[in-house]
Amino acid sequence: MSEPVIHDAGATHDDPTHLQDAAEDATALSAAAADTTAAAVGMSSAASLPVVGGDLRSIAADRGPLAMAATGIGRDYRIGRGVILHAVRDVSFGLYKGAVVALVGESGSGKSTVARLLAGQERPSAGTIALDGNVIDVRSNRHFRKYKSQVQLVFQDPFSSLNPTHTVGYHLSRPVRLHQPDVKNVDGAVTALLEQVRLVPADQFVTKYPYELSGGQRQRVAFARALAAQPTVLLADEPVSMLDVSIRLEMLNLLDDLRSRLHLALLYITHDIASARYFADEVLVMYGGRIVERGPAEDVTQQPAHPYTQLLIASAPDPDKLGSVLKTSTAAAGSVAARTTAANTGGPAAVGCPFAPRCPLAIDKCRTDDPALELLTPTRAAACWRLDVAAGAS
Ligand SMILES: Nc1ncnc2c1ncn2[C@@H]1O[C@H](COP(=O)(O)OP(=O)(O)OP(=O)(O)O)[C@@H](O)[C@H]1O
Ligand code: SF4
Ligand SMILES: [Mg+2]
Repeated sequence: MSEPVIHDAGATHDDPTHLQDAAEDATALSAAAADTTAAAVGMSSAASLPVVGGDLRSIAADRGPLAMAATGIGRDYRIGRGVILHAVRDVSFGLYKGAVVALVGESGSGKSTVARLLAGQERPSAGTIALDGNVIDVRSNRHFRKYKSQVQLVFQDPFSSLNPTHTVGYHLSRPVRLHQPDVKNVDGAVTALLEQVRLVPADQFVTKYPYELSGGQRQRVAFARALAAQPTVLLADEPVSMLDVSIRLEMLNLLDDLRSRLHLALLYITHDIASARYFADEVLVMYGGRIVERGPAEDVTQQPAHPYTQLLIASAPDPDKLGSVLKTSTAAAGSVAARTTAANTGGPAAVGCPFAPRCPLAIDKCRTDDPALELLTPTRAAACWRLDVAAGAS
């Protein structure tokens, strides 16, 4: 694979400095793509990933065909003189039509960075992303625009993502005009979108401003706006974590309904492994920018194999409740983020298992050698040198 491209912190597709070096980076991206296109296409046809011990199959593939494949994606940020943060490292997974894949991990583990890469808001430093088997290429404006409409991202804070000076009708009619240019009856399309997210009667919501809505209603508007683009892939980044616990279940039920009715490929990002168990087909557990365990939601949450997953489950004492015990306070999240940052910061010299400084099972080998994902069952894998010992602890 080609040398990773290091990006300065904060560069996005929307900022001009980023655009200036787009040509240079596009060359790097397409070089990376050339190296891994075969792998991406291989994954899209076989829907399996080679790991230590065999080929890993995603349980989510049982729901429908592969919509999107990330193959070996990484994202590096330069955060100081000679200090590189590997926010995401060698992450591969597929999103399948009609299936939910959950990306779970504590603050700073790299979840939102993965979502931004998949949404095309940032370029990967390494690896490729393919939609319907086609590796995305930022140089092809036409395809990239189509890609950006087919892959929609919904954030956790619906208030900040809606413009307070515009009505719900405005928020929805704009994307309808943009993404569905053939639609003559825009008002009718807006009504249909509101009904799809169960904001009824629709005419009562069209004229409302965001401040007149509850948090749950605002999040429904955010979903409706994403659906206006008629996406095949929906990336939901902590979509319920800012809502009252009492309405989280209702919102997840709505998402589940949209997934099945519209056959959406859904990435559900959360701190809350309990909700992932309830909602997802496959769970990917991230730590320090990498996937450390993955498999069917029920198996990963009932018999976690990796010491970090075991810690996550132990921190969520009642898995049948949709509580978010991991996100208890800003202070706690801050300290966790600091630990995670330490886990994925460093240059080429960074070695060993990223979880070693916190792992109760760590041995000397863990501090020098980085474990790769290893097949546990045909649909499950974990990256740890001591899976046999950890198995006794779960
Ligand atoms: N633009 C950036 N510049 C520098 N570092 C960044 C940038 N974006 C993200 N990071 C760092 O990358 C790491 C992963 O961040 P990311 O936001 O993806 O984590 P997360 O898992 O989504 O966390 P949270 O649960 O708090 O949302 C963090 O250490 C973060 O500080
Ligand atoms: S490899 Fe070692 S440090 Fe890492 S999770 Fe396994 S036992 Fe813990
Ligand atoms: Mg995040």
